[in-house]
Amino acid sequence: MSRILVTGGTGYIGSHTTVELMQQGYDVTIVDNLSNSSVDVLDGIESIVGRRPDFANIDCNNYVDLDGVFEQFADIVGAIHFAASKAVNESVEKPLLYYRNNLGSLITLLEVMREHQVHNLVFSSSCTVYGQPDAAHLPVDETAPIQKALSPYGNTKQINEEIIRDEAYADKHLNATILRYFNPIGAHPSALIGELPNGVPQNLLPYVTQTAAGIRKELKVFGNDYNTPDGSCIRDYIYVVDLAKAHVKAIDRMLNAKKRDQVEVFNLGTGHGISVLELINEFQNATGKKVPYSIVGRREGDIEQVWAEPRKANEVLGWKAETPIAEVLASAWKWEKHIRKIN
Ligand code: UFG
Repeated sequence: MSRILVTGGTGYIGSHTTVELMQQGYDVTIVDNLSNSSVDVLDGIESIVGRRPDFANIDCNNYVDLDGVFEQFADIVGAIHFAASKAVNESVEKPLLYYRNNLGSLITLLEVMREHQVHNLVFSSSCTVYGQPDAAHLPVDETAPIQKALSPYGNTKQINEEIIRDEAYADKHLNATILRYFNPIGAHPSALIGELPNGVPQNLLPYVTQTAAGIRKELKVFGNDYNTPDGSCIRDYIYVVDLAKAHVKAIDRMLNAKKRDQVEVFNLGTGHGISVLELINEFQNATGKKVPYSIVGRREGDIEQVWAEPRKANEVLGWKAETPIAEVLASAWKWEKHIRKIN
């Protein structure tokens, strides 16, 4: 059996990916400093899979600690790097924290991988690198121009992609897959793992589910005067379990493909854009729960509309986002009910 190192593996996307990897027969070692996640996630993963991933509570910025993990698990054949700070607003207030965490952890991981001759890296990037694509680039594919980042967080994703390319140029043994996620939502169908936002959610769906649960009085829709059919912003919401499966495909490909580019980039989205108002409607239809909302002003820095051209991932990775949105939204609601202990 092959072992994969998953940094940030107790986080939202990391935990779902760990489940899919283990269900496909991989062993997983998670490293996470639990700065934005709970150790209890390991129990959830174990309940779903029937095996517990190995776990080290360490910071990926710490070379000695990370090196120790590679020493202990000599069968690691690849790493998926999720560990990162990810709050856009916070990154504007604390840029140095974001640069230190998000750049330092990747650099350290690459150094330790090189030392231990582990040659396969999957990196968790974001469609934020495209900014607002012009009309000719919608849906956006991997060849669309990278635009200046709107936040330090977004900038760390861009710089990390460059670091990977530079290191791959210098070290011909290194294979890397850069996955650019659109908007991940939903939770595992078991409701044993899901997203655990800290404090007031910044992202749309956790805010929707908390409003439906009565924790928030009403959802604020940030703007209905955009140049879109209903005036609200459009995104490509991708089910986190579908997204997790793409990581397994990426690892499989790096371990097995006879021929591949040294650094490959894939957009991971559904290929369909949904507006904020449409999403609220779909949620209400899927769950029967009312979501009170009001329209407020635009949120600074928001992109008007973006959705993916996922054809490359469909064809090259053999992966497709296939879960219907109603099922995805129902999974998010099931998870919210589970963590709030409501029926
Ligand atoms: N929105 C609301 N009300 C809310 C929260 C969000 O109307 O309370 C709207 C936003 O204005 C936006 C849409 O819902 O139009 C989605 O917002 P999210 O914050 O959920 O997602 P974003 O697309 O803004 O941001 C996400 C990730 C970032 C990443 C970015 C890349 O959270 O990490 O995609 O585009 F950088």
